Amino acid sequence: MKAAQIRKYGSSEVVDINKNAPVPVISQGQILVEVYAAGVNPVDWKIREGYMKEMVPLIFPATLGGDFSGVVIETGAGVSEFKKGDEVFGQASALRGGSGSFAEFVSTDTKVVSRKPRKVDHMKAAALPLVGVSAWQALVEHIGLSKGKKILIHGGAGGIGTMAIQLAKYLGAYVATTVNARDMEYARELGADEAIDYKNQSFEKILHDYDAIFDTVGGETYARSFAVLKKGGIIVSMLEQPRPDLMKKYGVNAIAQFTQVNNERLSRVAELADKNILKAQIEKTFPLEKAREALEYLQTGHPRGKVVLKIK
Ligand SMILES: NC(=O)c1ccc[n+]([C@@H]2O[C@H](COP(=O)([O-])OP(=O)(O)OC[C@H]3O[C@@H](n4cnc5c(N)ncnc54)[C@H](OP(=O)(O)O)[C@@H]3O)[C@@H](O)[C@H]2O)c1
Repeated sequence: MKAAQIRKYGSSEVVDINKNAPVPVISQGQILVEVYAAGVNPVDWKIREGYMKEMVPLIFPATLGGDFSGVVIETGAGVSEFKKGDEVFGQASALRGGSGSFAEFVSTDTKVVSRKPRKVDHMKAAALPLVGVSAWQALVEHIGLSKGKKILIHGGAGGIGTMAIQLAKYLGAYVATTVNARDMEYARELGADEAIDYKNQSFEKILHDYDAIFDTVGGETYARSFAVLKKGGIIVSMLEQPRPDLMKKYGVNAIAQFTQVNNERLSRVAELADKNILKAQIEKTFPLEKAREALEYLQTGHPRGKVVLKIK
């Protein structure tokens, strides 16, 4: 089968298309899926560059990619929840015991897979798993966002940010978001009540007394955010560990989120996609053969929303 693989860590030139990669062999609790589309995430180029090698060292050659949408073609021992022919979406990252989704076939654990949303195609479904679950876990599970609450979402035009704006509006919140100047109108179209140009405006001088912040940017943006919260507010970051000094100074809670894609959370995302509440935002698609370029584009091209590989 065809797969986008690396034989060593590095920048984009280490990504090659192997036309003779072996079809993965499934073990107990796993399924083999024919991949129709694979979503690209920043973690994919971070894995390529070796950022995660202390946590989970790759066995080379390693197939890149996590998010996918496709069709089950074989089930392993002990699998009763899926059968051959089911349309599924989820995760198949090597970090989570999968075989990597930038390939024609993947093996993955059934715990990180769910039924694909019925009303969206494979390309759109593949754009949802990690970003949709990240937004769900932060806004619903950590923050408990509800009607009338005010939330600031950093990075509103990104993969996670575009999901978070739509979910926050559905939950009835007032949404402010930080984006590039060229993305301000786009953020409003997604549902944001207020868009702030992060390069030319200081969000902490404009926004006050917020109930919650969802940070998908990190760095100094994270540290500056605490001043926006009211006492008792909460900040959830995708990148930064809580800062006890700032938590104490502002009397707020802070959480570092490690997104865990699972069957239950994927099902909620699928339901919202089927109801047209979460609309996958795809800026650009590439064929599998251009996986290298797709990763480069996500890393440097400032896409709105997602980049997706069309595989079948
Ligand atoms: N902890 C976890 O489990 C976990 C899970 C998933 C993702 N993540 C991490 O979360 C981050 C976001 O993921 P993603 O998929 O949303 O990435 P993404 O699609 O690359 O989006 C990032 C967005 O942030 C914007 N941005 C950059 N600097 C900004 C600033 N100073 N203020 C406001 N916006 C800014 C970018 O806009 P421009 O167009 O201006 O660049 C871009 O739209 C990544 O670093 C990813 O690795 C962590």
